[in-house]
Amino acid sequence: MFEISLSEPNLRGNEIKYVTQAIESQWVSITGPFVGQFQNVVEDYVKADNAIPMQNATSALHMALIINEIGEDHEVIAPTLTFIASVNCIKYVNATPIFMDCDRYGSMDAKKLRHFCQTQCTLTDKGLINNKTGKHIKAVVVTHVFGNMADMESIVDIAKEFKLVLIEDSAQALGTYYTDGKLKGQYAGTFGDCGVYSYNSNKIITCGSGGTLVVKDKDKADKVMYLSAQAKDDGLRYKHNNVGYNYMMNNIQAAVGIAQMEQLESFIKTKENNYNLYKELLKDVKGITLLPFSDNCRPNYWFFSILVDEEQYGMSREELMNKLSERKIQTRPVWGLVHKQKPYENCQTFEITQAEKYADTLLNIPCGSTLTEEQVKKVVDTIKELAK
Ligand SMILES: Cc1ncc(COP(=O)(O)O)c(C=O)c1O
Repeated sequence: MFEISLSEPNLRGNEIKYVTQAIESQWVSITGPFVGQFQNVVEDYVKADNAIPMQNATSALHMALIINEIGEDHEVIAPTLTFIASVNCIKYVNATPIFMDCDRYGSMDAKKLRHFCQTQCTLTDKGLINNKTGKHIKAVVVTHVFGNMADMESIVDIAKEFKLVLIEDSAQALGTYYTDGKLKGQYAGTFGDCGVYSYNSNKIITCGSGGTLVVKDKDKADKVMYLSAQAKDDGLRYKHNNVGYNYMMNNIQAAVGIAQMEQLESFIKTKENNYNLYKELLKDVKGITLLPFSDNCRPNYWFFSILVDEEQYGMSREELMNKLSERKIQTRPVWGLVHKQKPYENCQTFEITQAEKYADTLLNIPCGSTLTEEQVKKVVDTIKELAK
């Protein structure tokens, strides 16, 4: 339907070859050899241990909350500007989210996070207590939005100081790493107690559906392997001492994933070139600002965003989106803020202002790794033309 889509999967490498091998070998389940290989490839790439292949990022997030023993007695600080799966996992374990604002790059505002912990909570031997509810705030979930690096230099310290389990939703940020500063060389998804990557069809790499759960602590990682494969205490006689889940990645997903990992750096390079081209071509367009990626890091350039200033550009974000759609160019407004979604509308929030602005003005523009320079030029020419 669209001539230029927002982001398409890019499956032009060894995907068919490896999937064929998986099928011909008859290994299609979670015990197939590609699963372990995929784990090794991801661990080597992000320089972390225990990068467990999962069914998808949603199940990985759920497992992250379970193994950190977060439950109904707990509250969890979460972003409002994120895809809703970052927050639903909190509900899955019957805990309660508290919503935090974003910074100018779209990820959690570390200054506000610290301010909240300092002014709205009391640090006790038991942990951080919310002054308003008297409940234990046990964790913080941080999303690396659009492939940016959230401010981990601050957030890692805040989590430590306030005794918070740190869960990184890096679903969108596989490949993003610090190039400078005290965390130089470290990848998004490897700072926290747990980190998550997604491989659904619009992500930087895809397995169709798939995810990784990076777990710092080896015992907790073992628990993920046990619980995610139906908690078999005796696999032969089917003895189960715990309630398990069917959350592991299978061999066909992993076969696709290995082929995708071979191409990841080239995908990032193409996206970086396209981002820089947009930057050059959009620089003089009044009322349109291309959102920068965060400093001190090599982002994976997953999603590109523009901010539409209605007064200066002469058209609102919604109108621009609709006009581009009429010209067969696909764009998408940023997600609806999670604290305004029905299941969360009564939850506590803290000084949300920046996210509100982005909710009204931010538009994601075509950015896939299959996008050509000509297509970038066409998108920009159309944006310019519409401004007249
Ligand atoms: C920030 C974020 N978290 C979680 C998810 C869920 O990923 P999955 O589709 O692999 O379950 C996504 C996917 O879109 C995401 O963008």
